[in-house]
Amino acid sequence: MEIRFEKREQLKEKPDQTQLGFGKYMTDYMFVMDWEQDRGWYDARIIPHGPIELMPACVTLHYAQETFEGLKAYRRGDGSIQLFRPEMNARRMIDSNKRLCMPEFPEEMFVEAVKALVEVEKDWVPAEPETSLYIRPFMFATESALGVHMASAFKFMVICSPVGAYYAEGINPVKILVEDELVRAVKGGTGYTKCGGNYAASILGQVKAESQGCTQVLWLDGVERRYVEEVGTMNIMFKIEGEIYTAPIEGTVLPGVTRDSIIRILKDWGYKVHETRLSVDDLMKAGHEGRLEEAFGTGTAAVVSPVGEFVYREDSVVVNEFRTGELTRKLYDYLTGIQWGKEEDPYGWTVKVC
Ligand code: COI
Repeated sequence: MEIRFEKREQLKEKPDQTQLGFGKYMTDYMFVMDWEQDRGWYDARIIPHGPIELMPACVTLHYAQETFEGLKAYRRGDGSIQLFRPEMNARRMIDSNKRLCMPEFPEEMFVEAVKALVEVEKDWVPAEPETSLYIRPFMFATESALGVHMASAFKFMVICSPVGAYYAEGINPVKILVEDELVRAVKGGTGYTKCGGNYAASILGQVKAESQGCTQVLWLDGVERRYVEEVGTMNIMFKIEGEIYTAPIEGTVLPGVTRDSIIRILKDWGYKVHETRLSVDDLMKAGHEGRLEEAFGTGTAAVVSPVGEFVYREDSVVVNEFRTGELTRKLYDYLTGIQWGKEEDPYGWTVKVC
């Protein structure tokens, strides 16, 4: 793919790497490419990060024909930069796009666009501990038309943001509200895709959780509101009597790249991993009986995040005395060790950029 480069006059000042937070700062450039029904993909370019022009009747603004991804670039100790399983993000975007009737976008094009932008932005990849460059590829309809239909014009873009921990708590335990009224996904819907609409629908739950002193929502299945599925921005796993439980990928749960990696590592470490439905009643019971040893979320932004407490209706259970569990910590250290190049990568998950 040929990529045109448009240089900006002046580069931005870089933020303090110890105070990054999540998603507050944007780098100097962005990748953009257009698609039209009769032309296919064209005009791949890396241009200064800045506003884009859209018509008021742009399909995305009305009908949310939009998908996105999230991955990171990591700076290794020797200064080189690597990605983590970018082809999995590419494949998930392809699946999301199919569900939302959006154009095909070859896996290699996705990875090439990400690599090219990260190479241009290499000075933005932070080196401080626990930091990385968050990469946000996204695609959306640009056609101007008010009828509900499959749009005939789209944009694919990639932007980047240097980040620290996703949660203000860092990698300390978070408190989570089990939502028993609102639902996130049902089979046949878009739950397994990464589309903006899923997140828009989740914000009310998030606001409710925050008003009760919680950081995130644990969503239950949309039919019986009984089985635990996923947390606002991450998949979730439980260690109960030495074995791991997590919701199966059956159409409602996001097939997380970190989820997949952690399951692989856990199995290699000899853990029994049950990708099975677990009811919230069984979860709370295990908590009250002292059998729920650890709980943690997995996600690109959240990495491996310990959960310290679940609040469900009038009930609540504290996990591991609100301390980060031993396995959670070990998983975090090992996974981030591979990502930052401190551990050997026996799985071939890392992809060198420069
Ligand atoms: C990610 O983990 O990359 C996500 O996309 C979650 C999020 C910040 C919406």
